[in-house]
Amino acid sequence: QTVDINLGEIEKGGYPHFMLKEIFEQPECLTNCMRGRVNVDTDNVVLSAVIDYKKQLLNANRFIIIACGTSWHAGLIGKQILESLCRIPVEVEYASEFRYRNPVITSKDVVIAISQSGETADTLAAIKLAKENGAFIYGICNAIGSSIPRSTDTGSYIHVGPEIGVASTKAFTGQVTVLSMLALALAKEKGTISNEAYLSIVKELHAIPQKMEEVLKLNDRIADLSRIFTYARNFLYLGRGYNYPVALEGALKLKEISYIHAEGYPAAEMKHGPIALIDSDMPVVVIATHNAMYEKVLNNIQEIKARKGKVIAIVTEGDNTISRIADEVIELPDTIECLEPLLSTIPLQLLAYHIAVCKGKNVDQPRNLAKSVTVE
Ligand code: G6P
Repeated sequence: QTVDINLGEIEKGGYPHFMLKEIFEQPECLTNCMRGRVNVDTDNVVLSAVIDYKKQLLNANRFIIIACGTSWHAGLIGKQILESLCRIPVEVEYASEFRYRNPVITSKDVVIAISQSGETADTLAAIKLAKENGAFIYGICNAIGSSIPRSTDTGSYIHVGPEIGVASTKAFTGQVTVLSMLALALAKEKGTISNEAYLSIVKELHAIPQKMEEVLKLNDRIADLSRIFTYARNFLYLGRGYNYPVALEGALKLKEISYIHAEGYPAAEMKHGPIALIDSDMPVVVIATHNAMYEKVLNNIQEIKARKGKVIAIVTEGDNTISRIADEVIELPDTIECLEPLLSTIPLQLLAYHIAVCKGKNVDQPRNLAKSVTVE
């Protein structure tokens, strides 16, 4: 007797696609990413790169984050958390623009290169340019031993395991986690964070995988609501502060795998253009969690509803204001504002996934896209 074994199916571990498997792996991936680095018993965040290269990192005048695609979105979140906790200026650059722009780079700059594959040609070339101009290079990569980690001075792997789905999911949350740990470790060394704030973020970071498990329980609900929106030819994604890059990432996920045109915007910019697009056919995903920007984002939702747009709101558990005005509401567990992207990104990954599946698209290998872009 013989048994037919399909290795591809075994690797998917019972999931219909790698992308869904990788979305569901995120709690475990972040636990692995934080293992030995975030220690709640001693209330400490330890990154070996920060210990070994403390002088270079603490003496930096500014950080320049270079990346492409989803990694660039993680960089935008990194900018906010590094500036907020470490009080150091951070610029975020597309590697492809940086490398050809004759940028100002000095030996007092630290360049943080973010790349899942560690092979992106533009990011590698940008690193080379920064190195030639004397900058210190810190890599945040996933693929161990790949070209980018080999060309940096130091770095931190995200340790989320191989990512197969072309649309990046677990690498994004892994990158945001490493950037958060880096900001915490540096802020403590620099003395730019109060002990109380430090402890509460460390504790909350440690609790994120558990909260992600809660968010993943929304999968069936998101699968149901995705069916309603397969008609759409355009989508808008809005968020503010830490959730603005999440809006960009949500729109990118939808574009990549469902081929629906989607734009991410900082919510307040809606009035400078995108509001003209809103009519009863336009779904707008709004990240409206309970944070400092809540009231302002609530106003945006009212403006969308006044124009009959369809609002899919991502809110904090227990919000009963937005649930009365939005068409669809997805509730997330509460967390500290700077860590919100780690939770708010998951429903957007699932939304893109289910819409693409409903439309019969090849989720793991979308047309025209490559997992690793090793050419210009
Ligand atoms: C490609 C992938 C994206 C990825 C980008 C940057 O476009 O399809 O998912 O975000 O490259 O890749 P990297 O490996 O440098 O993070």
